[in-house]
Amino acid sequence: MTTGLAHADLTPRVGSVVETDLPTLLGGEHAAELRALLEERSVVAIRGIEVDDAQQVDIARTLGDVESSVVGEIYKVTFDREHNPVGASINRATFFWHIDRTDLDVPTFASMLSAKVLTPSGGQTEFVNTYAAYEDLPDDEKERLDDVRVVHCMETAFLEAFPDPSEKQLAAWKHMPVKTHPLVWHHRSGRNSLVLSNSARSVVGMDDDEGRELLGRLLAWATQPKFVYVHEWEINDLVIWNNTGAMHRVRAYDPDYGRRLHRTTLIGDEPFDTSQDNDDRQG
Ligand SMILES: [Fe+2]
Repeated sequence: MTTGLAHADLTPRVGSVVETDLPTLLGGEHAAELRALLEERSVVAIRGIEVDDAQQVDIARTLGDVESSVVGEIYKVTFDREHNPVGASINRATFFWHIDRTDLDVPTFASMLSAKVLTPSGGQTEFVNTYAAYEDLPDDEKERLDDVRVVHCMETAFLEAFPDPSEKQLAAWKHMPVKTHPLVWHHRSGRNSLVLSNSARSVVGMDDDEGRELLGRLLAWATQPKFVYVHEWEINDLVIWNNTGAMHRVRAYDPDYGRRLHRTTLIGDEPFDTSQDNDDRQG
């Protein structure tokens, strides 16, 4: 598939490591190959690339449109309130498997992280290739899941991370959007992936126990080691993941240590529910 860009598999099913340098990344000459790798392998890791924030954003721009409307072009992933006064208080939710922005109809396409401060233990980021997890399901299960729809709400995600919330937290979460997404994402490419996330609250047409059982069983399936890449961070790592074909979480780490990664996010253009595309075309 890729020709000019040196890359190797990190695991058989998920993740590629790319050999390149800063001027090449900034020049964007391999952008199409990087996007193709993201599509196929869900995660691309690049080692030994020291970037400042402006360079990180410039690299991201070679791959797509940078999201800046919510938190700016650089979001600091950290518990350190000096660096992230608002987000630090909810950072614990990243310890649980999720797809970013299930509160939207069209989620973000991809995100890029650079490591600035790391912890001596914990803090590895784990990624599931949700295409591979779907593809390995038995055919009869694929058929059963094809039309299943799942209700997502960030309140559910936050309740998992903060099981003993304050009244103030509960009141804030109650107003977060509730979305219903297909369990199987029928991508425009013709490939399918699983939409699983800590925001999944219930399954349409199933009672709570039945829905929880299905979602729990699929989460256990998708997070089998064969579908997971665990990134052991080093300073000057740059990691990009395809949010439309991956779930991710971070392994727990000491929140007082000041771990900090800088994130740049690319705007998505594919809705979870691509049947709306068809409706549009037919209309
Ligand atoms: Fe995330």
